[in-house]
Amino acid sequence: MAMATKETEEVVDEVEGLKLEEGGEEGTDVDPWDVKGKVDYGKLIKKFGCQAISDEQVERIERVTSMKAHHFLKRKTFFAHRDLDQILQAHEKGEPFYLYTGRGPSSEALHLGHLVPFMFTKYLQDAFKVPLVIQLTDDEKVLWRSLGIEEAKRLARENAKDIIACGFDINRTFMFSDFEYVGGKFYENINSIQRCVTLNQARGIFGFKGEDNIGKVAFPAIQASPALPDTFPHIFGSNKKVRCLIPCAIDQDPYFRMTRDVVPRLGYHKPALIESVFFPALQGDSGKMSASDPNSSIFVTDTRKMIKNKINKYAFSGGQDTLEEQREKGANLDVDVPWKYLNFFMEDEEKLKEIGEKYSSGQMLTGEIKAILIDVLADMVERHQKARAMVTDEIVDAFLAKRPLAF
Ligand code: TRP
Repeated sequence: MAMATKETEEVVDEVEGLKLEEGGEEGTDVDPWDVKGKVDYGKLIKKFGCQAISDEQVERIERVTSMKAHHFLKRKTFFAHRDLDQILQAHEKGEPFYLYTGRGPSSEALHLGHLVPFMFTKYLQDAFKVPLVIQLTDDEKVLWRSLGIEEAKRLARENAKDIIACGFDINRTFMFSDFEYVGGKFYENINSIQRCVTLNQARGIFGFKGEDNIGKVAFPAIQASPALPDTFPHIFGSNKKVRCLIPCAIDQDPYFRMTRDVVPRLGYHKPALIESVFFPALQGDSGKMSASDPNSSIFVTDTRKMIKNKINKYAFSGGQDTLEEQREKGANLDVDVPWKYLNFFMEDEEKLKEIGEKYSSGQMLTGEIKAILIDVLADMVERHQKARAMVTDEIVDAFLAKRPLAF
């Protein structure tokens, strides 16, 4: 990926508080549509020009919100940021900000990796008590996948139910599908952004090729625009100065690098970002999970039995080959998928620590950590399924309705 924008030249030298993974330089290629090879997050931070989240920043978040930090922050699952301090400073001064996140509805069922940004966004909404806008990029998936428009719109509504099931506060959340909502001030902002980005820049940031359809080239402005508050006149009126914080996985960074380059020229603050690592596939650390391979991931529609089978059969183990060897050497946590998954979803800090110690020292066996993980995931998925079953079409309509929010 060539770097054409000013934003990307602000390369950071200091990478603090971050465990660097080894051997990621070869074959790592991260863009919003593809993650290939093992990801070296320390290098990615430098390459993208964002910053590592420090322990001090996590403490500051606890202080300003008077709430325990989410374990995604404590464990650096959300590990990188841009301008987080500006958001915290604004919040301390009593100035409002809003949250913006989204989902490209490409599949019927979400997998666990898809839930991560929404779980975290829900925490941020509760902690800061701020408005949230959620973009469903049904148009994006028509351009990138061979999806029909009607199918993409249907998937957007189905995915909306899973997102709502994460527990968002309806008084502070507006969700929209691009096909339904583009127009008015939203389209004016898209147009203004498109005018500011040349084809050469878009190529540099996103790697577009001559054979790509022209919708792809125009799309980044559609994902950029919700970072401008007056895209939502029913929430922010014509206010251009409300700050925006975007929680997302780090593969979305190129969109917002472009956004940050352009919007000061249009009279807005640059949006701030808080970015996560990828959720690994069951087979191990090769990047994002794929919704098209049912055995690479756990889906929110899976039964307890399916989860048990998949974990036992496919979850890559860092444990040793024989019982004797495991007792003697212990497991390699760096490559162990059950351990990684527990780090995402086991909230209990003490228990997690104990498991890590026992498993890496050989006191615990792979079968035992897998059994613990199966329970954690199956309970979580069951809870999600119950919550989703309560989300009616009327509730979806209510989240999608253009209306003022508590602000
Ligand atoms: N492009 C994202 C995807 O494919 C969807 C998206 C739109 C998004 N706006 C966003 C993600 C803002 C994070 C933040 O899933």
